[in-house]
Amino acid sequence: MTDSHLRTLEAETESRTAAIAAAIAGLAGPGDVIALAGDLGSGKSVFARSFIYALGGSGDVPSPTFTLVQMYELTPSNVFHFDLYRLEKPEDAIELDIDDAFHEGISLIEWPARLGAYLPPRRLLITFEFGTNEDARLLHLDAPDAWAGRIQGLEAHV
Ligand SMILES: Nc1ncnc2c1ncn2[C@@H]1O[C@H](COP(=O)(O)OP(=O)(O)OP(=O)(O)O)[C@@H](O)[C@H]1O
Ligand SMILES: [Mg+2]
Repeated sequence: MTDSHLRTLEAETESRTAAIAAAIAGLAGPGDVIALAGDLGSGKSVFARSFIYALGGSGDVPSPTFTLVQMYELTPSNVFHFDLYRLEKPEDAIELDIDDAFHEGISLIEWPARLGAYLPPRRLLITFEFGTNEDARLLHLDAPDAWAGRIQGLEAHV
């Protein structure tokens, strides 16, 4: 049984979300799976883009709405950005090479619930919630043991 460790970070502005994403990117390594949940427009893609930039990505980071996954060759590993909004059933994800992504890359997954049982339990789940004003968001982190130590003190780094 994996314990989960919960905490909430406040992102009063978009640049705070970007800073949190950059801080988490600095803690991530090959094989990490980061699930980005939350309603339309809650900030999942802002997070993913900032995460990819923090690892040296440059240029456009389009949401892979139709291709469902976009890969970036980065260090310390390739980053696979999934947007599974249009995934019709979990089995369809197998064709997206999720095995390679989950084992060798860093995976950022928007609409992770679409994966059903294919979402690994060891994922770091970040749920985005709208805050009290237009630019504010709450990022609820649900961390498995493998992430618990890493996200301790995260606030001090953003
Ligand atoms: N604190 C904040 N953090 C993130 N985004 C913010 C924040 N405040 C305002 N925004 C705005 O909210 C929007 C977030 O859009 P984004 O595309 O990241 O959402 P999403 O969760 O990926 O939606 P979708 O489910 O459609 O993919 C952007 O227009 C961004 O400018
Ligand atoms: Mg998005």
